[in-house]
Amino acid sequence: MTQYAMTRAVSASLGQCELTHQDRIPIDLTIARRQHAEYEACLERLGCELIRLPEEPELPDAVFVEDTAVVLDEIALITRPGASSRRLEIESVVAALQPLRDILRIESPGALDGGDVLVVGKDIYVGLSSRTNEAAVDQMRQWLAPYGYRTHSAEVNGCLHLKSAVTAVSATTLLVNPDWIDSEVFDGYDLVEVHPDEAYGANALRIGEIVIYPLAFPRTAERLEHRGIRIEFVDLSELAKAEGAVTCCSLVFAKGPGTGSK
Ligand code: GLY
Repeated sequence: MTQYAMTRAVSASLGQCELTHQDRIPIDLTIARRQHAEYEACLERLGCELIRLPEEPELPDAVFVEDTAVVLDEIALITRPGASSRRLEIESVVAALQPLRDILRIESPGALDGGDVLVVGKDIYVGLSSRTNEAAVDQMRQWLAPYGYRTHSAEVNGCLHLKSAVTAVSATTLLVNPDWIDSEVFDGYDLVEVHPDEAYGANALRIGEIVIYPLAFPRTAERLEHRGIRIEFVDLSELAKAEGAVTCCSLVFAKGPGTGSK
């Protein structure tokens, strides 16, 4: 296995999660946990070695572990989540990542959710959203340039995170909802637009040549398959009620030298 996928068990308090663009709907915790387990099984089937963090019962959004860090081949950048209710999620992630990467941290006044960070090769796109600000982008630009990364910012409108609006489905292809992000930012990439009836369909999780994708967006899935993208479907309907999606529930990163890569 060449990749890790860090996940965190669904919190008993998930029903009290942060909500920004959606109304609160009761969440069935049993179904949410079953769907999360199936998602983890899918990651394992695709060759990821799981690092499972224990539940944080008092932190409703802790299952959305993606927001706590951006893990690159060279370093792990620990975020400073934009919602203050989520800042206590960080320390257990630092402890888990410390043996695997050198650690950098976003500092106040910077605010950053990992869901606002899309890494495509050496290009890093950062969404300016209700959770992420310019101060964080400035810190990223300064700290990541020595590793050869180019940091770009883009306004996000109408959705929670950049990766609600755009994700990578291959090395050269992005899946995008043009109502929520200006597609011109991604000049040079092939773009697949979500079906107009599937606004939330732009969030896909790429694992090698396959994408993990929600069952909820069949028309957009058809568009992806038409482009030759291979899909593993998952059902995350209960976590979607908490404004979560397929990228949010894991941190996927390469095994580095000295971390047992095979
Ligand atoms: N409920 C996901 C978030 O707002 O962070």
